[in-house]
Amino acid sequence: MCIENKMKHRFTINQLNKNGYAVCKVENFKIFKALQNSFIKNISFPNSKNKTIEDVRKYFAKKNKAEINKSMINFITFNKNLSELMVKSFPNLIKELCGKELFVQRRAHTTINVPGKNQAKQVAHYEMISGISPFTYVIWAPLHEINDEGGAYHFDLKTSLKIMKEEEKKGLVNSSRVLNLMGKKKPPKLKFGEAIIFNPFVLHGNIPFNSKLARIACNVRFQSSSKPLLQKNTDYLKYYRLTS
Ligand SMILES: [Fe+2]
Repeated sequence: MCIENKMKHRFTINQLNKNGYAVCKVENFKIFKALQNSFIKNISFPNSKNKTIEDVRKYFAKKNKAEINKSMINFITFNKNLSELMVKSFPNLIKELCGKELFVQRRAHTTINVPGKNQAKQVAHYEMISGISPFTYVIWAPLHEINDEGGAYHFDLKTSLKIMKEEEKKGLVNSSRVLNLMGKKKPPKLKFGEAIIFNPFVLHGNIPFNSKLARIACNVRFQSSSKPLLQKNTDYLKYYRLTS
């Protein structure tokens, strides 16, 4: 890796350590583009030949949740290699954080978010709620640029930990206070090829947004294989070794 790239990673990791999240950039565009093409190819979509990601976004912007779920049946093929494609899109950053020997989520996620006031949204939450270890990182990568409010917001680490500790004292998880936090944050705009890496402690979610296009994003969880696991085991994780 050249010195310039090393400096960029250092900056991203410093931001990540300080805030609990940071914007990171795709390192291997060829692989990330292959991931995007695989999504377009495998999503159930009329006349999908020669379609672009914008065509897919336009099509799904008007669909309801049931219709989207039906289209996602074909994702079983797409999802098969999604975790690897995601990890291989950001190899050096991941290597610097976790080394080459990883536990990676068996099946990375893909979400399609539809614009409009009454559409489902992801309420503010932190990843450790789902039992992943504190050593896990998540990379969330939209498959297109985000130039509206359809992205994801993250609370900084200090604020997230303060809220979490206050909730713990009261025996609460995701109280109305946390639920009400959504809508007060504005998701950042991102260029195509920019993603967000975050740790499992930071509160995050998304808000309803107005657009003619749906938002499509993939996310993957990973950690060093030498770090302890929490509740997740081999049902959820697989061993993966980064090459080079
Ligand atoms: Fe999440």
